[in-house]
Amino acid sequence: MTIDWANLGFDYIKTPFRYLSIWKDGQWDQGKLTEDNTLHINEGSAALHYGQQCFEGLKAYRCKDGSINLFRVDQNAKRMNRSAKQLLMPEVPEEKFIQAVEEVVRANSEFVPPYGSGATLYIRPLLIGIGEGIGVQPAPEYLFTVFCMPVGAYFKGGLTPTNFVVSEYDRAAPQGTGAIKVGGNYAASLYPGKLAKERHFSDCIYLDPATHTKIEEVGSANFFGITKDNRFVTPLSPSILPSITKYSLLYLAEHHLGMEAVEEDVYLDSLDKFTEAGACGTAAVISPIGGIQVGDDFHVFYSETEVGPVTQKLYDTLTKIQLGDIEAPAGWIRNIKN
Ligand code: PLP
Ligand code: COI
Repeated sequence: MTIDWANLGFDYIKTPFRYLSIWKDGQWDQGKLTEDNTLHINEGSAALHYGQQCFEGLKAYRCKDGSINLFRVDQNAKRMNRSAKQLLMPEVPEEKFIQAVEEVVRANSEFVPPYGSGATLYIRPLLIGIGEGIGVQPAPEYLFTVFCMPVGAYFKGGLTPTNFVVSEYDRAAPQGTGAIKVGGNYAASLYPGKLAKERHFSDCIYLDPATHTKIEEVGSANFFGITKDNRFVTPLSPSILPSITKYSLLYLAEHHLGMEAVEEDVYLDSLDKFTEAGACGTAAVISPIGGIQVGDDFHVFYSETEVGPVTQKLYDTLTKIQLGDIEAPAGWIRNIKN
């Protein structure tokens, strides 16, 4: 298979190996790599009927010296276990999670895009409830799999700004599952996302479900803004996904760019205080937001065509750390020699 690394989108590509492990009778099996990319599960599986499932997303980066970096994989392991706990699923021990990710990356290392190509290897851990069942109750058995594929930009345009629209729909409830990474949140975002794309927006921005006055997040990424007084601001909310990229940017804005970095309410009627805005996440990396449609009004941040200077600096700092070009804060990188 020849891959045009520079022109990859965010699409499924079958890579040779994936990891699979089963939880049964109170324990996980050893787990193994397999070439079969089809799951064989009971028709009564709770994941299929009642959404008892959660997932993660992280990336592997090819470094200049040919080795491979994993970015904050321990944080993904911890977040998946928070999701598992809330959905009454067995936790995957952190060491097992990290080992599975490493095995999959090593086994598919020829699919880790070259340094400098702009592409990366996207890794998708998935935990689902399986086995016989039909009542609304936790599954008797669980399947944990990790698979991967090379990807390019999630939002077309990469570092070129794109536009978003504020949705009148909610992806999550105030005390619901918004802060964990479960499929149901994404199922709820499909229709609002379709409406946004039909109007040629990249995606929608959700508001806080209780009052619809504050920005929450994008369907697949967190929101951030840079204020006129040079603060890095991201929404504070119990119903958004605690983005690992967002927490990394909060740290980098403060410690590398010398900015004040805070999580606080982002009111829709105070967008004028921001000079730049963006969406951030593993898939989205940092995607500048040109403007957002709020009802009949269109609010432009820095520019609809050019990335702002602070967003550019944050992007450079984050991606250089991920690629191993500058030193990472302690514990952020796991380097795999292959
Ligand atoms: N918010 C949502 C809804 C997401 O799906 C993602 C992607 O994982 C993010 C935010 C960003 O999180 P992270 O930076 O951990 O990838
Ligand atoms: C990610 O950034 O890893 C995501 O999960 C976003 C999206 C592909 C669901």
